[in-house]
Amino acid sequence: MHSHWRDCQAWRREGLPLSTTSNDACKMYDAVLTQYVGWYEDPSVGGIQKAIENMATADPNFVMAHVMANGLTLLAGNKSIAHDPVMQAAVAKMAQLAAKNNITDRERNHVSAVKLWAEGDTPGACKIWEDILLDHPTDLLALKMAADTYFFNGMKPEMRDSVSRVLPSWKPSIPLYGYLTGMHAFTLEETYLYDEAVKTANKALNINPKDGFATHAISHVYEMRGEHNKGIDLMSSNERDWVTCRAIAGHCYWHWAVYHVEKGEYEKALDIFDAELGKRCNDGNMLDLTDACSMLYRLEMEGVNVGERWNEILETCQSHVGDHVQCFTDAHILMALLGAKEKEIAKQMMDSIKSFAVKGRGHNHEVAAEVGVPLCEAFEAYDNGDFGKAVDLLYPIRYKVIKIGGSHAQRDVFNLFLIQAALKSQEKKHHKIARILLNERKALKENSPMTDRLIQKALALHAD
Ligand SMILES: [Fe+2]
Repeated sequence: MHSHWRDCQAWRREGLPLSTTSNDACKMYDAVLTQYVGWYEDPSVGGIQKAIENMATADPNFVMAHVMANGLTLLAGNKSIAHDPVMQAAVAKMAQLAAKNNITDRERNHVSAVKLWAEGDTPGACKIWEDILLDHPTDLLALKMAADTYFFNGMKPEMRDSVSRVLPSWKPSIPLYGYLTGMHAFTLEETYLYDEAVKTANKALNINPKDGFATHAISHVYEMRGEHNKGIDLMSSNERDWVTCRAIAGHCYWHWAVYHVEKGEYEKALDIFDAELGKRCNDGNMLDLTDACSMLYRLEMEGVNVGERWNEILETCQSHVGDHVQCFTDAHILMALLGAKEKEIAKQMMDSIKSFAVKGRGHNHEVAAEVGVPLCEAFEAYDNGDFGKAVDLLYPIRYKVIKIGGSHAQRDVFNLFLIQAALKSQEKKHHKIARILLNERKALKENSPMTDRLIQKALALHAD
C-alpha cells in the first residue's frame, strides 16, 4: 500500500503544483487520488471520504480539494445534481473559490471540467481534461476522470486512446504508474485487444498483486472469450488480493457469478448473490447496485426463481427512480422495480425518464431520448407480456445501446433480453430475429453454454 504521500514540494517537482501552502492538504490530495485510482479504502487515512474531509479541513480554500470532492461525488453516479441543492451549492462554492483565488491554469481547467460535468456536459468535461493532459500528461486525476466519463458514455476508443497518449510520458518511478497500467489493460479489453489486455494487466499485477482493477480486466477477457472456467479459477485463486479493493470487489463477485450463470450453475450464482452482491449493493456504490439488478434479471431470464431477493434491493433502487444520471443505471433500476412487481413505482419511473428525455438537459438527456426511453419501454412491454413490442422497441436501436455506458459484459444483459423477447414473441419474424441474434452470439463467442442452451430453446419453440 502506498503511504509516502506527496507534499507541496513533491507535487511541484512533478510539474503538477497545487495552490495551497498546506503540506497536509497536498498529502491528503495524494491519498484521495491514490484510493480513487486504486479502487480501495486506505485505513491509515480513514478511507477516501475521511481523506477528502481532512484535505478540506487542512486548507478550506484549497480549490483542488473542492474539485476532487465534487468530481468524485458526481462520478460516483449516485446523485443527481438537478435534485440536490447541497451538490449545487458545493459546485457553486468551487467556482467562487476558483474565481477569487490565484490558481494555475491547470487547476482552473479542472474546475471548469467538473462544473461542465455537473451541468450535464460530460463530453465537454472530457475535452477540458484532454486539454490538461496535453500539457500535463502525468495528471492522473484528469486522466482517471476522463476515463470514467468516457466509460459512462460508452466512448471506448476515446477511453483507450486517452490512456495510450500519455503512456510515453510516464516512467515506472512515477507514483501510481502501476494503477495507470491496470487502467490501460481495461481500455484494451473494451476495444477487443484481448491479448494485449492480458499482457498489460499482468504487468500491473507484477507491480501490485492487489490491483483489483487489473485482475478485473483479465476477468473481462475470459468473459468475452468464453473462458469461464479460467475466469472462475482467476477469481477464486486471487480473491484475497482483489477483495481488498472495496470499490471494485463487489463487481468482481458479479463477474464470478456471471461465469456460473453461463455454465448453468445457478445455485452457485445465487450463493454469490446472497453472500456478496445483495449485501454490498445497499452501500451507495452504483456499480454494486446495477450488478445486483443485472444478476437477478439474468437469472430470471434463465428461468431461475430468485425468491424474495428483489425486495432486498428494492428500497435502494427506489431512491434513484428520479435521478437519470445514466441511462444504464435507469434501465437496471427499472429491472428491479419490475422484478419486485412494483408496477406503480415502475410507471412513475417511466413517466420520470420520459419527462427527462423531453425537458432535461445535458448529454444524458440526449441519450435518454434516443436510447434510454425505448430501452426502458422495452422492459416495461416485456413485463406486460408484450414481447413483440419489446423486440420492436429494442431491435432497431441495439447498436446504439453502447451510448448508455457500461462494459460489453455488463450490456450483454440487453442482448440476452432481446433474444428472450424475440423467442417469446408471437411473431414469426421475431423468431427469425432470435435465430440470427444467436448466430451472431455464437460467432463472437463460440464456447458459450448459455448460447447453446438458447439455440436449443429456439429450435424447440420454433422448429419451422
Ligand atoms: Fe467488469
